[in-house]
Amino acid sequence: MPDNIISTNSVSEKQSEYMNLTAEIMEIRKRGEKPLAYIRTYGCQQNVADSEKIKGMLAKSGFDFSDTPDDADFILFNTCAVREHAEDRVFGNVGALKNLKRKHPQIVIALCGCMMEQEHIANRIYNSFPFVNLVFGTHSLHHFPELLYNSLVNGKRIVERGNDDKKVYEGFPVKRDGIFKGWLPIMYGCNNFCTYCIVPYVRGRERSREKNIIIGEARQMIKSGYKDITLLGQNVNSYGKNLDNGVNFAQLIKEIDSIDGDYWLRFMTSHPKDCSKELIDTIAESSHISKHLHLPFQSGSDRILKAMNRHYDRKKYLEIINYAKEKIDDVSLTSDIIVGFPGETYEDFKETLSLIREVEFTSLLTFIYSPRVGTPAAEMDDPVSADEKSKWFRELLDVQEEIAAKRCSSMVGRVERVLIEGKKEKTDELNARTSGNIIVELEAPQELIGTFQNVKITKARNWILKGELIR
Ligand code: SAH
Ligand code: SF4
Ligand code: F3S
Repeated sequence: MPDNIISTNSVSEKQSEYMNLTAEIMEIRKRGEKPLAYIRTYGCQQNVADSEKIKGMLAKSGFDFSDTPDDADFILFNTCAVREHAEDRVFGNVGALKNLKRKHPQIVIALCGCMMEQEHIANRIYNSFPFVNLVFGTHSLHHFPELLYNSLVNGKRIVERGNDDKKVYEGFPVKRDGIFKGWLPIMYGCNNFCTYCIVPYVRGRERSREKNIIIGEARQMIKSGYKDITLLGQNVNSYGKNLDNGVNFAQLIKEIDSIDGDYWLRFMTSHPKDCSKELIDTIAESSHISKHLHLPFQSGSDRILKAMNRHYDRKKYLEIINYAKEKIDDVSLTSDIIVGFPGETYEDFKETLSLIREVEFTSLLTFIYSPRVGTPAAEMDDPVSADEKSKWFRELLDVQEEIAAKRCSSMVGRVERVLIEGKKEKTDELNARTSGNIIVELEAPQELIGTFQNVKITKARNWILKGELIR
């Protein structure tokens, strides 16, 4: 058996006992009427989904939730390590808790997530912030109740990281943040080791959840009214590679798609090297899968793609994109891009610009390269200045703004089915989203939040659409 074959374990009864014990302790330790927890999540949807499990475990441990740390008995930051900026925000925000802890020493302050799986960061937190009680990494989630209980009863500081046992844990109580939009993790970890990326080091090797467990959870979500379900993984389209039942990602989504109901199915993130024609055909033929493909290409230059260890070139990427455009009616394409990878020249960068012009993406997530300790790219020569990279970055944004505006204007006059998601801040308008993941603002009664409606697109403002409800 390859050593990444996993077995499935359930969050044990022992952990349930710890949740009960914590509930008893918190009845005595609480500051207000009920024990309160404040959870702040940084980073990607994987972290959001992990926080939903933590909230589920906290709810079973007697906690309610607060949207400020000020009145909380338990404060947790679930951190992200993907870029330096994300880490800096965490350090700043943890530092700001010092006075609160001084005033109320019984508060438990905890840090978890991707940053904590890096030894130098866990050490820095331990040494710089003596008021932090508990530090645990992404591999310790399944016994969080035990860690919290221990931290409450013995008062000692706890640090736990590097606990990668290659298992998939099931049976978490999940407290989802949304009632009609929800995340459904289908796999964890990543095997790709793109040379710039910290994720494989902090989330461990790829491991897929059992198909029947995923289908059961999807069925339950659809039954309880979820309208927009996103399947999650660092590389969703390599789903199943480490399972022995031969199911691949296209087959998995085909099966979920066959569940009756009024819902959209999304997924992220797909890797171009694993994006098969079978997957695109499945999207094209499905009833529920949104006509949206988020396919990060990172760079338009073959030289840089090679240095990034991405395992595809520009030609292969465009082949997939053209196949998707041909098969999926009005497909909406989005991507992630890194500007200023070590050794990238302006010539390379121009290849990225020409690729976005050629594809005409609906929207892009764009990042300036950030060196990550322990990754190969952090050791590469990086002669281009930060100022120069910022200039390229702005040029990229300008080009994309033009493309998005053109794409959005072409939708004016059309009727689109949208999911109404919520109220827009400081106005009476509501926000909605198309199947292609484009935001539409419209005037409509608030009771329609959480429902699908048909909307006539009346205006386009950059990458946002305005629409009128059709009753
Ligand atoms: N697994 C996903 C996304 C991972 S992180 C994928 O492969 O697409 C999300 C995005 O952050 C990446 O797509 C990449 O564009 C960006 N990113 C990752 N590491 C980075 C780094 N060191 N500097 C800048 N951007 C980075
Ligand atoms: Fe990082 Fe690459 Fe894995 Fe995505 S596929 S998480 S960018 S290593
Ligand atoms: Fe950040 Fe971890 Fe996600 S590093 S991007 S939260 S997997």
